[in-house]
Order: sequence, then structure tokens, then C-alpha cells
Amino acid sequence: MKFFIDTANLDQIREAMDLGILDGVTTNPSLMAKEGIRGEENIRKHYIDICNIVDGDVSAEVIATDYDGIIREGKELAGLHPQIVVKVPMIKEGVKAIRQFSKEGIRTNCTLVFSPGQAILAAKAGATYVSPFIGRLDDISTDGVELIAQIVDIYRYYEFDTQVLAASIRHTMHIIQCAEVGADVVTCPLNPILGLLKHPLTDIGLEKFLADHNKK
Ligand code: G3P
Repeated sequence: MKFFIDTANLDQIREAMDLGILDGVTTNPSLMAKEGIRGEENIRKHYIDICNIVDGDVSAEVIATDYDGIIREGKELAGLHPQIVVKVPMIKEGVKAIRQFSKEGIRTNCTLVFSPGQAILAAKAGATYVSPFIGRLDDISTDGVELIAQIVDIYRYYEFDTQVLAASIRHTMHIIQCAEVGADVVTCPLNPILGLLKHPLTDIGLEKFLADHNKK
């Protein structure tokens, strides 16, 4: 399972990279705004900065919602850096654009996916990644991890190449649950990743090992 970090914060990206477990980055317009990155030129420069920190794929989201606009913007984003994956919303025009990008060899991440039907369309269109948002489903009393399991089963059954990228991950347990049901990628903020490190028995055990070693 690949680990992506879901942030536009360069310090957090560096910290995850330093840990040695980072496979890529996802961003979205809200995450860019949270870091105060505004204006087309600054946003594009920021994507290049992110690509220069990480080795893996970096999702950059289009703002356009019409077919021609998505194609134009997607090609510009893809042209910024070979690591860029064009993030396209799950709307009719987006599906058409993903099909076209796929024909042209431009990699895509189909975002804002909340149902198995949407995931089937994304795979049929040739998306490289599909991003089901599990936290936002949990927020409305629907089982987000169950959606990941359904999509993984469907994709395996039909041998779709599209990778299931579990997004909107809110806590460490989401990561474990996504691993249990076979997600290809999880993307989340730094804290849930660091949460995987924690176990009180590790701390207690280490303390005792060190104390025993230091006994005179
Ligand atoms: O990658 C999508 C993700 O950023 C959404 O997360 O927490 O805003 O639902 P959240």
C-alpha cells in the first residue's frame, strides 16, 4: 500500500519524506488556500516546489468544470512536471476529460467519488487513480471504509488498472481499515501517519531495555 500525504504544507511534506515512507502527495483547492497559496502563477510554482521535494506522484486539481477548460488546464498542469497527476472531479465533463487524458497518456486522479457507480465510471474512463472520500461519508453516517472495500472488489473482479486511493482520511484507524480491505493508496494528513508509530508497550519496553542496559 502506498502512502500519500494530503497537504500543500511543504514542511509537513518534508517531514513525511524524511520518515522515508512517502510515495506521493495529493492536494486540492482547499488545501492550497489553507497554505495561503493564491493566484494561478503561485499555485503552479507551489506544485513544482512539491514535486522537487518528493519522488512520487503529485496530484494537482483542475478548477475548470467544462470539458474544454478541464482539458486545457489539465494539459498545463501535466506540463509543469513529469510527477504531476491531473486531479479531475467526478462530473460528466470530468469523465469525458479523463477518457481523453487517458488516450493522450496523461495520468489522472478522479476526485470527489462517493459511490461504487462513480468509481466504475472513473475506471472505464481510464483514470490512473480513483479517490473515494471516506471521512466525508462517515460524517453523514455512511460507512466510508465499506465503500473502499466495494470498489476494491469490483476493480479486482474486472481487473481494472485504476488504483484505489482512499482519501478524506481523518485518523490512524482509517489507514489500518483501508489496508485491511486492500486500498492501493491512502492519502492523509501527517498526524494519522505519525499515529501509526504509537504504542504504549513500545515506550514501556524501550524504557526498560535502556534502564537494564544502564544498570551498574
Ligand atoms: O483528498 C481529499 C481530502 O483532502 C478531503 O479530506 O478531510 O477535507 O474530507 P477532508
